[in-house]
Amino acid sequence: MYNITVIPGDGIGKEVMDATITILRKTGIKFNFTYAKAGDDCKKETGTALPEETITLIKESDACLFGAVGETAADVIVKLRRELDTYVNVRPIKTIQNVENPIDFTIIRENTEGLYIGEEQITTDGAIATRRITKKASKRICEYAFEYAKKLGKNKVTAAHKANVLKVTDGLFKEIFYETASQYPTIETEDYYIDATAMYLITNPTDFQVIVTTNLYGDILSDEGAGLVGGLGMIPSANIGENNGLFEPVHGSAPDIAGKQIANPTAMILSACMMLNYLEEYETAKNIEEIVIKTIQEEKIITPDINGTASTQEMAEYIASQLRKN
Ligand code: NAI
Ligand code: MG
Repeated sequence: MYNITVIPGDGIGKEVMDATITILRKTGIKFNFTYAKAGDDCKKETGTALPEETITLIKESDACLFGAVGETAADVIVKLRRELDTYVNVRPIKTIQNVENPIDFTIIRENTEGLYIGEEQITTDGAIATRRITKKASKRICEYAFEYAKKLGKNKVTAAHKANVLKVTDGLFKEIFYETASQYPTIETEDYYIDATAMYLITNPTDFQVIVTTNLYGDILSDEGAGLVGGLGMIPSANIGENNGLFEPVHGSAPDIAGKQIANPTAMILSACMMLNYLEEYETAKNIEEIVIKTIQEEKIITPDINGTASTQEMAEYIASQLRKN
């Protein structure tokens, strides 16, 4: 029995979460799902976007499934990543559709510091945001990237930074990247400036295998990566730390399509698969992933963003109906 905290959040977060829970309930694995509140609607209702009970519940659970929140994202998901010390955000960017040159790389995003520490202040002539880069966080994210590459049989890790301009902060990140790399002599390494990386992702996306980078850059590159493989409805993510795992799609609450049952549930479903792998339920994770791939490649029961006509829930129910019976 796994205790899972479920945070649907706002907008399409609720729809893709319903879809995903439909599938998880059909796996035969025993889950105890406890729903918790966070986000814009929660703030309206309770006065706070992230109640203490929600944080406590996640800490006591085996894992957390998170949909998406809206304008309170900084107070909810960015804060949760820090509070739970889930220091790595793993974001696999992979083409699922049948294409000639499939893209397959993973962004390993530092999740607890950089420009997202939330230290902003008004000054007499404007405002200042602090960007913190520590040796400890840089070391553990770089180590994670190399260990990830080793485990998945990838033979290159790329660092993305801007050490030519941010000489001290990104200079430190780059230095620690190469220091870590020296412990992994069989893995090829390279580094690019973040702006060049953004271009190479468009011109040479299949050259990348693992990209390790700081918080804001990782945020931006992952939406760009999503754009390369069918959009934000396709990309899952895992926030992992020593004691906690929180799994969420890369997308937000998508107010432009919320409530219409047209959101693609793939990103949320694949995030649940990342959770199953974290819980060492490898067989079930693989089974769901294979069905998601087959469903998308068949091009029948899929949502409008990837050229189908099915609703969010119809796509999920179809996937659930194809699960291997235990
Ligand atoms: P967004 O990711 O919600 O949407 C960007 C675009 O992608 C929209 O056109 C949307 O319709 C489309 N899209 C996103 N997910 C989709 C899906 N599953 N299926 C089909 N299309 C999908 O980002 P946006 O519009 O910049 O922000 C909307 C709200 O979400 C904001 O309030 C923002 O603060 C919040 N946000 C929350 C995040 C989180 O909870 N982790 C992450 C990113 C944004
Ligand atoms: Mg983002």
